[in-house]
Amino acid sequence: MATITEQGGIPQLNASTGTGTGIWLLDMAKSVPSSVTLVGVDIQSRLFPPAQPNMKFFVGSTFDLPTEMDCTFALVHQRLMVAAFSYEG
Ligand SMILES: C[S@@+](CC[C@H](N)C(=O)[O-])C[C@H]1O[C@@H](n2cnc3c(N)ncnc32)[C@H](O)[C@@H]1O
Repeated sequence: MATITEQGGIPQLNASTGTGTGIWLLDMAKSVPSSVTLVGVDIQSRLFPPAQPNMKFFVGSTFDLPTEMDCTFALVHQRLMVAAFSYEG
């Protein structure tokens, strides 16, 4: 895996879509500086972990993310979603 660091003093944002429990972000948090913001997105919040210092979780669909998020992430991670997606999105 590539090393994620601050570039030009700008904290990197890393996203996990369909984040579920946020387990990937929780693992990622051990490998990046605390100044890196980690963002989890899921259509439901029931599995979100307790608040973490450098993490944000919000409810939203992978298919309809806010346009303000366009081109803001250094890395976007998505896994185990083949069975999760429906035709309704
Ligand atoms: C199998 S879990 C994924 C687990 C997680 N990616 C991981 O690696 O641990 C599927 C998750 O996708 C979410 N999900 C389903 N459709 C989604 C959508 N359109 N946008 C975002 N999340 C979605 C579900 O709520 C569920 O939490």
